[in-house]
Amino acid sequence: MNIGILTGGGDCPGLNSVIRAVVRKTSQLGHHVIGIRDGWKGLLELNYTELNKGSASGILHLGGTILGTSRTNPFAKEGGPQKVIDNIKKLGLDVLVAIGGDDTLGVAYKLYGMGINTIGVPKTIDNDLSATDFTFGFDSAVNIVMNALDNLHSTAESHHRVLVVEVMGRHAGWIATYGGLAGGADYILIPEKPFTIDEVCDSIKRRQASGRKFSIIVAAEGAVLKESDEVITKDVKKDAFGHVMLGGIGKFLCAEIEKRTGAECRDVVLGHLQRGGSPTAFDRILATRYGIAAVDLIEKKDFGKMVALRGNKIVAVSLEEGVQRAKTVDMDIYEIARTFFG
Ligand code: F6P
Repeated sequence: MNIGILTGGGDCPGLNSVIRAVVRKTSQLGHHVIGIRDGWKGLLELNYTELNKGSASGILHLGGTILGTSRTNPFAKEGGPQKVIDNIKKLGLDVLVAIGGDDTLGVAYKLYGMGINTIGVPKTIDNDLSATDFTFGFDSAVNIVMNALDNLHSTAESHHRVLVVEVMGRHAGWIATYGGLAGGADYILIPEKPFTIDEVCDSIKRRQASGRKFSIIVAAEGAVLKESDEVITKDVKKDAFGHVMLGGIGKFLCAEIEKRTGAECRDVVLGHLQRGGSPTAFDRILATRYGIAAVDLIEKKDFGKMVALRGNKIVAVSLEEGVQRAKTVDMDIYEIARTFFG
C-alpha cells in the first residue's frame, strides 16, 4: 500500500514519535510511506519526501516535526479540496494519515466524506479534543509550565512580587489547570470560568494578610473577563481556520493588580516555549501507541477513523466524533486546584 502522512496545525513534542512508529511498522509490513511536507499545504503544492526506516530513525526524542507543518486550510481556498484530491491521486496514495488537532482532523473528515481514505491521530498541547482522554504534546507542555513555576517561585518570593504567568489555551484551560496544579499556582484563570479582577486581587490580599507576600497567578491566554465577556487579543487578524491571535492577558492583569493591591507585579509569557523541546516519556509512549494503532487501522482498511486514548486503552472512534466538540476542563480537577488558591 502507498501511505501518505502529514502533520498539521501547531507543532508539539511527540509528532516525530508518531511518524517513526508509522514508518517502522508499515515498513515491516512491506508498505511504502510518503511524508507530505507542511501539512495540507504540501498536498496543495505537491511537496513531499519519501520516508523509510533510515530517514525516520533517530527522531523519537526530537521536538517539532521532521515534515514541517502549517495552518493551511484547503477548504478556505478556491478549488483547494479538488487540488488536494487530485494530488493524492497523482501520488497514488491508498490512505492518508493526518496528525493534528481539530482543524487538521476536520479537513481529514471532510476529505473522507469526499471519498479519500483518511485516518486521524490526535495531537495538541491544548488537550481539547473530546473523543480522547489525552492528546500527546499536552504532558510535555504541562511539564514545561511546572518547571517554569518552580523557577519563578524563588524570584517571586525574594522580591515579594505577584507574577502572572500566561500560558496557552485558547478555548480550554487544560494547560493552565494541570500546569498550575503541578507547579503550586495561587490562582488559575481558565476560559471555562469567567473571572473578575476583584476576585483575583482579593485572593492576593488574603495571602498578603496572612504573611505570604508573593503570589503566582497562572492565566490561560483565552481566559474570559466576567465584566466584559471578552478575551484579550494580540491581533484581530484571523488565521485560515478563523482563529484570532490571543495574548496579552498577563500584561493587562499585572497593571490592574498593581493598581488595586499595591503589590509589585510582573508578567511572564511562556508562549511557544510550551510547544518546544523533547517529548516527555508519557508523550513518546502515547504517540508511539497512536502510530502503531493507526497502522492497525490501515491493515484492517478501517478508514474514516481517529485513534484515541480511553482509560489506558487505545481505541478507534469515527473522525466525525473526533472533531465534533471541544473538550473543556474537568471541573473536578479545577476544584482540586482551587483548594490551593489564596
Ligand atoms: O493550537 C495550539 C496552540 O498552541 C494554542 O494553544 C495557541 O493559541 C496557538 O496554538 C498558537 O498558534 P501559533 O503558533 O500559530 O501562534
